Amino acid sequence: MPKVAIYPGSFDPVTNGHLDIVERGLKIFDKIIVAILYNPNKEYLFGLEERLEMLKDCLKKFKGVEIDSFDGLLVNYAAQRKAHAILRGLRAMSDFEYEFQMALMNRRLNREVQTVFLMTGLRWIFTSSSIIKEAIQFGGNIDGMVPDLVQAKLVQKFDLDTGSGQTGKN
Ligand code: COA
Repeated sequence: MPKVAIYPGSFDPVTNGHLDIVERGLKIFDKIIVAILYNPNKEYLFGLEERLEMLKDCLKKFKGVEIDSFDGLLVNYAAQRKAHAILRGLRAMSDFEYEFQMALMNRRLNREVQTVFLMTGLRWIFTSSSIIKEAIQFGGNIDGMVPDLVQAKLVQKFDLDTGSGQTGKN
C-alpha cells in the first residue's frame, strides 16, 4: 500500500524551503499531498487560487506530488485522504514549541494520524514566507529564496498593491 503524507501549510507564498521539504519527504513517502489549509491566525497576501497556481507550477517537476486545499481540521482532511502521516518541516529552535503544540493537539483530535518532522536544509533555516515578503517589499534581494515564478508574482503583487493595503483572504 503506497505511503501517503499530507504536507499542510499556508504557502503564502511557497518558498524554496518548502520545496526542500517536499524533496526530502519524497525519499520516505510514495505520495505527498501538498495541501493549503486555513490558518485563522494569518492574513494572506495571495488568494487561495493564486497560491494553488504557484504550488502547481513549482511542484510539477516532482513525481508523486498532488496539490489540494481544504477548509477545516487538518486531521479530518488527513483521514479523508487516508494519509499515513502529516509532514512538517522544522527550521530553527523557534519552530519547536508551535509544532509540538500543533502535533499534540492533532494527535488528541485523532490518535491514528502521526506527525513526521523533517529538518529543513541549512540554507533555509532562517527563511519564512513573511521575511521574504518583507524583504522584497522594501526592495531587498530575494534571489534564490523562492522559485523564479514566485519572485515574479511577488514583484507584481507589490507593484499592484502599493498603497492599497489589500490582502488576499482565503
Ligand atoms: N522553509 C522555509 N520556510 C518554512 C518552511 C521551510 N521548510 N517550513 C515552514 N516555513 C515557514 C512558512 O513560510 C511560514 O512562514 P510565515 O509564518 O512567515 O508565513 C511558517 O514557516 C509556517 O507556516 P506554514 O508551514 O505554512 O504553516 P502555518 O503555520 O501557516 O499553517 C496549518 C498551519 C495551516 C497547517 C494549520 O493552521 C492548520 O492545520 N490549519 C487547519 C485547522 C487545524 O486543523 N488546525 C490545527 C488544530 S491544532
